[in-house]
Amino acid sequence: MNRSDDSGTTVRIELHGLDAATVAVAPGTTVQVSYTDDGRAALVAPDPRSGRSGPPPVRDGRRTAGPPAPAPPAPRSRPPHGPAPNVVSAPQQFNTHDLFVDLRPIVDQALFCKVEGMNFAGSVKLKAAAAMVEAAEIAGQLNPWSIIVESSSGNLGVALAMVSANRGYRFICVTDDRCNPQTRRLMETYGAEVHVISTPHPETGLLGARLEHLKDLCDRNPDTVWLNQYENPANAGAHYAATAPAIARAFPGLEVLFVGAGTCGTLMGNARWFKQHRPDVRVVAIDVEGSVSFGGPASPRHIPGLGMGMTPPALDRSLVDDVVVVPETDTVRMCQRLAMRGFLFGGSTGTVVAGAARWLARHATPTTPAVTLAPDQGERYLDTVYSPAWREEHYGSAGQLSRPHRLPDAGAAVPPPPSEE
Ligand SMILES: Cc1ncc(COP(=O)(O)O)c(C=O)c1O
Repeated sequence: MNRSDDSGTTVRIELHGLDAATVAVAPGTTVQVSYTDDGRAALVAPDPRSGRSGPPPVRDGRRTAGPPAPAPPAPRSRPPHGPAPNVVSAPQQFNTHDLFVDLRPIVDQALFCKVEGMNFAGSVKLKAAAAMVEAAEIAGQLNPWSIIVESSSGNLGVALAMVSANRGYRFICVTDDRCNPQTRRLMETYGAEVHVISTPHPETGLLGARLEHLKDLCDRNPDTVWLNQYENPANAGAHYAATAPAIARAFPGLEVLFVGAGTCGTLMGNARWFKQHRPDVRVVAIDVEGSVSFGGPASPRHIPGLGMGMTPPALDRSLVDDVVVVPETDTVRMCQRLAMRGFLFGGSTGTVVAGAARWLARHATPTTPAVTLAPDQGERYLDTVYSPAWREEHYGSAGQLSRPHRLPDAGAAVPPPPSEE
């Protein structure tokens, strides 16, 4: 092996004619070379996110986990115009941090929605999945034989199925019959096993039955690793590290943040960051009717994502300034209103936008700068939230918009977003 340059950040490495690549490393960093069973050489550069290095694990003589190496060679020179290309070698490396939808024409409030579904997993849960798997790898809890198991209403399952496929782990998702059929198929396409629970536990409901099944899986197989999104600090940690700072950067004049509550990972990560760095921002939790998270009575819910059948272990109520509880009828009606403006979001986006609009109408002025989050996109809900027959079956006429949608007046003046004021 020849190092042709060790003074800068780029090192050219030749592997006795077997292979060659250019990698970017910090001066003084050790770069390892590993050989796969078929004799191919692979560079194993330190993982820039975790600082770890070392050969990827091998299972059945095949590399199954770890970063694919070597990285593609960087373009020799930047094009004269336009941003540098976004090149990834793992789907979890890409996410959008700066996309917001201006909802003023729809809710008549200065409400902006951070879009979290524009990534390869299609939802906000990519952040939690990637962070929890990485934390488990760093803690040495995962090996090439590990079987990741998790309880999920769908989106975390898809994200974990994708990350597990990329890192080479088996994955079993325990879900229930509220999980969309398309979501189940997605997980299976990534190679995951999906266990669907349809009989609720007599006291703890479907979630309790899911957790019992999961614990049974863990008891029976020592290779299983339960990431436990309900209590894993990496779930909220991902939002503390990325989501909240991105919102604060985009909206320096922010006054109110609305966050939907499922496991409360998104809520707690954002709330903790804002309480520490911007305590003037009010944090309002949005929950769905029938959820017991904030002490309400349990009743049937049909839309996955928000709400819990038990008190979320991660919830620290002292970080939340107020709570809005939204009936599912408001959810599906708001989803229709958004779709009629060309924004097809998932069910929980309808919930948080409906709840935020209601809270702002009571407690703020039409120009109070506010942000909420859209956890996923709407395609996974075509057979449920966006199906007139499904809405009729579950909500009757209360699930349909009563007034026809009205387009905005052409040229109607819309004030600039808060960050531009
Ligand atoms: C669509 C959707 N919305 C909201 C949430 C809630 O996020 P969290 O679990 O971080 O509270 C989830 C979680 O799975 C989800 O899938």
